[in-house]
Order: sequence, then structure tokens, then C-alpha cells
Amino acid sequence: MKLLVIGGGGREHALAWKLSLSPRVHKVFVAPGNAGTALEHGLENIPITSIPDLIEFVRKEQIAITVVGPEIPLAAGIVDAFQASGLKIFGPKQQAAQLETSKIFAKKFMQRHQIPTASYESFTDPELAHQYIDQQHVPLVIKADGLAAGKGVIVAQTYDEAHSAVNSILVEKNLGAAGCEIIIEEFLQGIEVSFIVMTDSLHILPLATSQDHKRLYDGELGPNTGGMGAYSPAPFISPNLHGQIMRNIIDPVISGLKQEGIHYTGFLYAGLMITADGHANVLEFNCRLGDPETQPIMLRLKSDLLTLIEHAINETLNKVDVEWDKRTALGVVMAAHGYPENPRKNDVVHGLHEFINEQEDNDSFHIFHAGTIMGGKDEKEIMTAGGRVLCVTALGENVKIAQENTYKLIKKIHFDGYQIRHDIGYQSINYQKKS
Ligand code: AMP
Ligand code: GLY
Repeated sequence: MKLLVIGGGGREHALAWKLSLSPRVHKVFVAPGNAGTALEHGLENIPITSIPDLIEFVRKEQIAITVVGPEIPLAAGIVDAFQASGLKIFGPKQQAAQLETSKIFAKKFMQRHQIPTASYESFTDPELAHQYIDQQHVPLVIKADGLAAGKGVIVAQTYDEAHSAVNSILVEKNLGAAGCEIIIEEFLQGIEVSFIVMTDSLHILPLATSQDHKRLYDGELGPNTGGMGAYSPAPFISPNLHGQIMRNIIDPVISGLKQEGIHYTGFLYAGLMITADGHANVLEFNCRLGDPETQPIMLRLKSDLLTLIEHAINETLNKVDVEWDKRTALGVVMAAHGYPENPRKNDVVHGLHEFINEQEDNDSFHIFHAGTIMGGKDEKEIMTAGGRVLCVTALGENVKIAQENTYKLIKKIHFDGYQIRHDIGYQSINYQKKS
């Protein structure tokens, strides 16, 4: 069977790699992919991004199922277009993807279905937004309504920061159409975790829990990024809390969508803040898997991902069992010089070739690529081509050992100006020390 994965980041490398391990799959195309997917056995990159061209390619190659990684094609209606052409694709349609593509849609939806989340107001008029800020306590969180590639959320510690965020988005229009409307939200304190499920609109299959690290520098300092590292499982999510999240958040989302006539098939990601009193609140929904959470999650997945996706497409997700490696998987992102503001491209990445054969036989680690391309001499060198370059991911008996294993691998890899965090997993290590 041939499959297609849409996207070219670390999440898509992990998805395509995992799908290629299914005994029923003989090739996974990745559009457009990266150097990692170009070098991986069983994967092939195709330089196609437009939806009509992808449909033509899928027909010509008789691809059985397409799996969508990122939010942009989902927001553009790739699932609607494929289904209208009679093609099998896994991901939510445009209308369902609004849970991610419009923060106001998501907030109103949560209000209608009593799903716990920070209180908020929405604004198009900057004057009203400024007045509102003056009546609130800081910190406050200012969010652009639309998709803004990680730049649409400002956690304002001071009134000045809050006012200038409003000016930047609503007056100077620095985020374009994504910032026509904003929300101003109550600041929540606690531990942030990622809770990701698969759903066929009727049934829900929770994936392994995980935690991302959004800030650039150790100890939650520096600017927000797309994510600098993640691990799975997240020990803060006890069986009790897992039950609470399913009952108070995930079940009402899926039944609420159904009640409103919105059919949601795909991965659904809830970014949660677990407050000190033990309650989970929704910070955001994503209509896709997280990046970099996917990389450790896929390394732990023992079941056949293709089988899970087939059940989701056939609305029989209640019929599957999923098996996870008991160990912890931990991924550290190696980011380019200048990331996130102004990532530099075209640095040569050294030290990867020796891993390529080794990781085919050794399933305890995997170097997932994101912003890389083949270039340089005879197109044989791996070059940086984007902000997050690699996600080096390894398993270990516990989070501490997984962390050691991952950082040992990182020592063997080099490119000029690379940036890493040195503390991925620290909250979990501290938590386990205490308990
Ligand atoms: P989002 O894209 O909505 O997940 O926001 C990006 C990051 O901003 C989150 O990962 C949180 O760290 C932070 N954040 C968002 N909303 C809130 C909130 N209401 N309170 C505290 N932090 C928040
Ligand atoms: N890791 C956060 C995200 O994918 O949005």
C-alpha cells in the first residue's frame, strides 16, 4: 500500500517513519518533506504543495490514504477537497478545524459546552481593548483570533506590554488578517501539558500524554517558540486527572461538535494548564498533532499507526487497542541560529550520516528532521533550511535516563549557531524526585 503524508516538519518525519514501519505499507510519500524524509528507507519526498496537484498525484500513484500534518492545509480545506474527489484522507474538514483556526470560535464553543478555560473578552476596536485592559489585573494574555504561526499569543506581564500588544495587532496590523480581532484572556498559572486524542467523531482514542517546552531558553525564559523539546508520558497526568480531562474536556468537545453538526475526524490536541488545585483548563485547541510532541509519542507507539488511522476513517476507533512502550521518550529540538525571530539557513549539519543506518536497527532513538534540505557538494550534505532543524529523540527507563540518552546523541551532532535547551523534562524530573 502507498501512503502520503502532507507537511515537512519533525512531526511529519515522525508520522511518515512510523507509517512506513507498517508491514502493509511499501512506500510513504512526503509532500514536501525534508532531508530526513529524503534519506529514510521507505519514504520519498515529492515537491508538491498545491491541493489540486496533490489530488492529481494521489490519483496517479493510487495512494490509499493521505495523512495531514500541519494546520495550514487543514485550514485551506485540503480534507474537504480530497473527500469531494472521493479520496481517503485523515484530518478534520475546514469547518471542524476552526477549533484551531479561530480562537474566538474555540472560546465561544467552550462557553456553549461548559468546557473549563480562562475567562476572556473579544475586541475589534483598539480603544475598547485598551479600556478593558485598564480594568483588569496583569498579567493578561492577548491572542490574535486567527493562525499566526506561533506569533499570535502575547503573555503581557505589565500594562505597557498589554497595550502595546493591542496596538501591534489591531492598529499596526502586524499579523495581517489573523489579527482583525483579538481576545484578552485571564492569565492562568500552573503546569502546562499536551493532551492529544484521535477521534472518528463518535469514538475517542487518547494518545500517550506529553509535555512541550515553549520558551527558547532553559527555565522558561526567552521568547515563545513552536516548541523546543517534549517528552512522553507526562507524569503529572495521574489516572484521576486523565479521567477528569476526558470527562470535563475531551468528551464534551466531541459530543458538542456532534450536537452542532460538525463532523470531526482527525487528531485533536488540547493544550492544558493544570492549576494548583488540580483542575485542567484549556489554553488552546489544535486540529492536528503537536510538534515536537509527536516525535516522542511516535517513538513510544508500538501499535501499527496505519491500523489506527484506518479505524478512525471507518468510524470504528472503539475497536482498537493501542500499545505504548512503557519507557519515557524525550526529544530535544536543535534550532537554527537566530530562531525564532530570524532563523539563519544554509549551515551544514555534521554528524548525522552515521546514525542513518544505526537507527534502522535500533528503535531506542531516532533523529527526526524538520528544517533541513539536501544541498552543498553534489547535493549530499544536510543543510539547515528553517527554524527548528532537528528533534533528537531517545527512549530511557525513566525521564532522567531518556534525557541523558538524548543529550548524549546531541553531543555527536553539530551545526554552526545551533540552539538547544539543556533542561527538557526538568519539571518531570523534579516531580518524580518529590513523589
Ligand atoms: P497558545 O498558542 O494559545 O497555546 O499559547 C501559547 C502559549 O502561551 C501557551 O503555551 C502558554 O504557555 C501561554 N498561554 C496561553 N494562554 C495562556 C493563559 N490563559 N494563561 C497563561 N499562559 C497562557
Ligand atoms: N507543540 C505545540 C504545537 O504543536 O502547537
